[in-house]
Amino acid sequence: MAENSRITGFRNMSVTDRRAALTDATGCGAELFAQVDASAFDAEAAADLSENVFGVFSLPLGAATNFTINGTDVLVPMATEEASVIAAASNAARMARPQGGFSTSSTRPLMQAQIQLINIADPHAARTRILERQSEIIDLANAVDPKLVEVGGGVTDLEVRLVEARSTTYVLVHLLVDVRDAMGANAVNTMAEAVSSAVAAIAEGDALLRILTNKADRRLARARAVFDKELLGGEEVVDNILHAYELAAADPYRAATHNKGIMNGVSAVVLATGNDTRAVEAGAHSHAVVDGRYSSLSRFEKNAAGDLVGTLEMPMPVGLVGGATKVHPAARADLRIAEVTTAQDLGEIIVAVGLAQNLAALRVLATEGVQRGHMSLHAKNLAASVGASAEEAEIIVDRLIEEKAFRFDRAESLLAELRSGGAR
Ligand code: MEV
Repeated sequence: MAENSRITGFRNMSVTDRRAALTDATGCGAELFAQVDASAFDAEAAADLSENVFGVFSLPLGAATNFTINGTDVLVPMATEEASVIAAASNAARMARPQGGFSTSSTRPLMQAQIQLINIADPHAARTRILERQSEIIDLANAVDPKLVEVGGGVTDLEVRLVEARSTTYVLVHLLVDVRDAMGANAVNTMAEAVSSAVAAIAEGDALLRILTNKADRRLARARAVFDKELLGGEEVVDNILHAYELAAADPYRAATHNKGIMNGVSAVVLATGNDTRAVEAGAHSHAVVDGRYSSLSRFEKNAAGDLVGTLEMPMPVGLVGGATKVHPAARADLRIAEVTTAQDLGEIIVAVGLAQNLAALRVLATEGVQRGHMSLHAKNLAASVGASAEEAEIIVDRLIEEKAFRFDRAESLLAELRSGGAR
């Protein structure tokens, strides 16, 4: 547990000072930071994870501050190329602190494999034949992963669905597998392949696709937080945030952007911990469709005291074992910084960040709009790109904002003026 996730002035510290502050706050040894340096994961190491490797692509890695989750402070590693994301999550987490931070929970870590059966003459009867032999199929699947069973995982159930398609009715067998601390794709795919011919024989047909579903709706993580109305900016801001939310709930065009804001936070933590961003994103999008309509993943309400209550529930197929989580040195370091020991804990942190990110975006949109913040970042980038020192950049940024002149040539001329003793 981080002693305290509120690190004063973290945003304005140098990278070295931030590392020292993280060391103090988490108790992680300073040597851990060697793992997040580019040299720790070179092209030779990366070549074991992918193919045709000729290099490594890096991204900024930051820590979101202020998070309290189930009464415990946590510093959350986030990898993202997008400016403002980490600051916004930290800011929203601060607004949840007076009311206790985030409360989270999750289902059992159940992933599902699908076996598609084709050429079945009697789909309804095939379904019941398979269900009659359910425990035999489950035993067969469990036999291929005794290690998982030993640690309390394995197949918990088998379901059969009939899906009407254009040319025929497919019989789909779902294996529900408790994958413990794994993301689970390998485990469930192996099981599906291992039992498919036996299942096809029982169904009196053929097995075709044998693969997990990314609609991981039996592996959900949830977060809830009360955001203080005064810190949000008062009653009117709360009401406007609710209007912003209601639009996302009612309109798919807005919902897509609203959910993108959630994924800004979610994907940044998923990536930082070496997990599969596309799996989590696919799960999120499938979960956003309710009764055939794409909608908001989160919900917002006003509680009796007039504070804003946010909730987010989404599929969370992340793991701590296997793939990049184990191999990538930065991912291993990030798991230590976040001090997670189970995949469920990690999943719950991720949804809490998603909720914080969402609230932060809605608040900005319902008040000043996003452009002001973006413009000051743009001005900072311009100052840096003309080669200004930190001291010169401060002056140039102020002037660019004042003049609303976000142009490279203006940044250049301001720097020239400064260096010749003007522009103060
Ligand atoms: C930008 O990356 C994310 C937002 O568009 C999210 C939203 O509109 O809610 C600001």
